Amino acid sequence: MAAIGIGILGSGAGSNCRAILERIRDGTLCAEARVVISDVFDAGILHVAQEFGVPNAYLPPGKYRTRFEQEAEFLLVQMLHEAAVELVVLAGFMRVLKQPMLAAFPHRILNIHPSLLPKFPGLEAWKQALTAGETVTGCTVHYVDAAVDHGEIIAQRQVPVIPNDTSETLHARIQVAERELYPDAIRQFCE
Ligand code: GRF
Repeated sequence: MAAIGIGILGSGAGSNCRAILERIRDGTLCAEARVVISDVFDAGILHVAQEFGVPNAYLPPGKYRTRFEQEAEFLLVQMLHEAAVELVVLAGFMRVLKQPMLAAFPHRILNIHPSLLPKFPGLEAWKQALTAGETVTGCTVHYVDAAVDHGEIIAQRQVPVIPNDTSETLHARIQVAERELYPDAIRQFCE
C-alpha cells in the first residue's frame, strides 16, 4: 500500500502528533507526514515536528479568535497543497475550519475530540462529562464538517470515569486513549 501524505494541524503540546509520528517511524502506520502547521507561535507541536524532521510552519491566523481570517485560510490550503497533503489531521487544533478548507479537502479532514460524540461537543469535554456525572466517557475520531465537533464518526474508545477523578486525572486518562485511537483511525482511513 502506498503511504498517504498527511498534514497535521495543531495549537498545543502535540502529544497526538507525537503518537502519530512515532507510529509512522516504527512502521505501523503507512503514512508520510508532509507538514505540521500551527496557528500558535512556537507551539509545542512545532517542536515535536522538528524533533521528527517534519517540515513545519506557524501560520498567523489573523484577527479572529476561533477561526482563520479568510486570507489566512486560503494560504493554509495553498501550503497543504504545496506539501502534497492528501489527508488533513487535526490534532488539538483549536480553530473552526471554514469553506476554503472544507471545499479543498472534502471528506479528507479528521479530528479527535475528547468525548464520546455526539455527547459533549465543544471545549473541555472531559469537564462536561464529569459535571454530568457520567461513569464512562472517551474519545472520538470523526470527519470534519461545517459544524463544531460534528461529522461522520470513524472510531471511538471508551474511558472509565473513576470515583474521585478530577478534571486533570480524567483528561490524562482520555489522552492516553487518544494516542492509541488516532493512529489506528488514520490507518483505517488509509485502508
Ligand atoms: C487533546 O486532548 C484533544 O482531544 C483536544 O486537544 C488536546 C490536544 O492535545 N482536541 P495535544 O496537543 O495533542 O497534546
